[in-house]
Amino acid sequence: MSGTQKALYLTSRAGKWVVGEAPIPMPGPKDVLVKIISTALNPLDWKIVDSRFSSFIPSYPFISGTDGAGIVEDVGADVTTLTKGDKILFPGYFNNEQGTFQQYCLVPAAFTAKIPYNISFDEAASVPLGLATVVLALYNQDPKSDKTLRLTPPWAEGGTTQFAGKPAFIIGGSSSVGQYAIQIAKLANFSPIITTASPHNTAFLRSLGATHVVDRSLSDTAILAELPKLTGGKPLQFVFDAISLPDTQVLAYQATARGGTVVYVLPEVTPLKQEGDGKTVSRVAGSVHFPGNAQCGEEMYAHLTEWLEKGIIKPNRVEVLPNGLAGIPDGLAWLEAGKVSGTKLIARPQETP
Ligand SMILES: NC(=O)c1ccc[n+]([C@@H]2O[C@H](COP(=O)([O-])OP(=O)(O)OC[C@H]3O[C@@H](n4cnc5c(N)ncnc54)[C@H](OP(=O)(O)O)[C@@H]3O)[C@@H](O)[C@H]2O)c1
Repeated sequence: MSGTQKALYLTSRAGKWVVGEAPIPMPGPKDVLVKIISTALNPLDWKIVDSRFSSFIPSYPFISGTDGAGIVEDVGADVTTLTKGDKILFPGYFNNEQGTFQQYCLVPAAFTAKIPYNISFDEAASVPLGLATVVLALYNQDPKSDKTLRLTPPWAEGGTTQFAGKPAFIIGGSSSVGQYAIQIAKLANFSPIITTASPHNTAFLRSLGATHVVDRSLSDTAILAELPKLTGGKPLQFVFDAISLPDTQVLAYQATARGGTVVYVLPEVTPLKQEGDGKTVSRVAGSVHFPGNAQCGEEMYAHLTEWLEKGIIKPNRVEVLPNGLAGIPDGLAWLEAGKVSGTKLIARPQETP
């Protein structure tokens, strides 16, 4: 397939989002070309406009987008696992052939999973980055990675028993990443699973596997006082801060027991470690494309269709934006303003006017 398509470009650093034309790329031997039906918006997509995350952008004009779901249009010569017409979900990456804010993109076949019958394209697009962020943080075994806890994954022996009865604390359970952290903690049989969120998300987060939802507007002192009551006095060895703003990093670190580990999803703001406190901080890099992440990413994608079909992993709740790619800038502004709660914003590139 050749020709042109519509794409959403970021014109320059701190520049504007503009819908324009892009060539439809040709798949390399291990790639597939996907017609993108749904793409999800992530906080990174507004942060890269003008922050330290701009360094992810190789050149301008740039096509962003790290979450996609669509239909295989063409496959590379070495691809044996997919054929034209398959429905897949997949991650995007930081270059103009692999970004998902366009109508067609490339993805390595190894980073795809078929969408089961019970999941829509919109829901499927909510999964790739958020889930990979959790899976890589916990289970990446690559010896070169210093951004993983190297826990036994749920697909390996012991992965669903080793942590049974151990408490987990997830800050920001209603965020996209937090929703997947709750579900992976449930899959690994952590218990209890305690999370913070706004009270209106309590029932929803319980449906995903949280056993206790603590009001995130309480003071750190009040939350820290509540935790031992909820764990029955068991030490919190596993804390996942799915928000990782300066104040939640402090809460997460203080909640972590001696010898425990806290995961941050953003760079550590002020190092909190004190000599001899025995706590470890791990900062995840959630793209399966990053060096050292590929094998774990492939394993996650190999299990993903089954997890979704069986309801082990439920996609985020979704809200579809109007006007296809042209609706994305407004959605990014809502994300930046903190106006999105417990929901993933989705755009449908084929509906671009
Ligand atoms: N390291 C990586 O590779 C990686 C990958 C993906 C994302 N991230 C980062 O992870 C963060 C979360 O991303 P996301 O897509 O999951 O975000 P999101 O879904 O847009 O987050 C929105 C949610 O955050 C919750 N929230 C905001 N402030 C909170 C606080 N102080 N305490 C508890 N909950 C709070 C809100 O909860 P309520 O509505 O319940 O109040 C809301 O539901 C972002 O900073 C993102 O850039 C990093």
